[in-house]
Amino acid sequence: MRLASALTGTVLASALLLSAAPASLAAPAEDLPAVESAQLSDASSMLALINPTTKLSPEDYTPTKLVSVGGTGLTLRAEAAQAVEDLIADARAAGHSIKLLSAYRSYERQAALFNQYQSKYGTAYAERISARPGTSEHQLGLAADLGYTNSRAELKEEFGQTPAGIWIAKHASDYGLIIRYPQGKEEITGYKYEPWHVRYIGKEHAKALAESGAETYEEYFQMLSKSLEEPKAEASTVAKEEESDSSDKSEKESAKDSEEVGHGVVKEDDLLVLRFLPPYRDWGFGFTE
Ligand code: DAL
Ligand code: ZN
Repeated sequence: MRLASALTGTVLASALLLSAAPASLAAPAEDLPAVESAQLSDASSMLALINPTTKLSPEDYTPTKLVSVGGTGLTLRAEAAQAVEDLIADARAAGHSIKLLSAYRSYERQAALFNQYQSKYGTAYAERISARPGTSEHQLGLAADLGYTNSRAELKEEFGQTPAGIWIAKHASDYGLIIRYPQGKEEITGYKYEPWHVRYIGKEHAKALAESGAETYEEYFQMLSKSLEEPKAEASTVAKEEESDSSDKSEKESAKDSEEVGHGVVKEDDLLVLRFLPPYRDWGFGFTE
């Protein structure tokens, strides 16, 4: 049941966030990499969707294994660490002095950061620039903040217009990374534009996302969720009798699977509409990790 409820929560959150997304945004399932439901609900999956309404369960989830990124002392999951190391090395070779500013952050570290922004800017603005603990991709060990030394654009929106920011946006997908909070998509992602924050989803999915027409991970994630429904619908038509005979068994098996998965994501009970009904605002100050 845990897996089922976590997945439902994720899909519902995506649907709410996507209320303003164009209806035409739906890549055919056959154009998307095949996924299994656990990949969309398990926090240990590189595809886990975490946003203001979809939080980690348990909230203080910690990735099983984190490795240092290129000897910086900052850590990430191994696949993400390699991707970030490669991106930084290639960017440097192309003349951009990019460095890693932040990577994995624990629940406690994220709580301290959020509280800091809340004290400085108030709750409403803090929520636009910083994830509450238990809802940050940094806690997944799959997100990194990039910048360069001696730059006034560091951790600011202007970074996206610098040669380094432009290079990152252009090449991130080659490393399996995406700019997770694009400009003008706050109503979908929940956060202001962060050209410095990259999220690892793997090369296959980063490429598929770019080709799918999705501009946010929420949109791409919804496409993946829908692609899961299609084969199930066909199977239920073909094997209708079999399915009715074994429905009890399937439910038990799902429950067992979900227990084995262990860590998931769940929809928070807060009313997302309260946060996103006000018109898009740009207060134009501040920065965040
Ligand atoms: N700044 C991003 C949203 C985070 O805190 O994870
Ligand atoms: Zn970040």
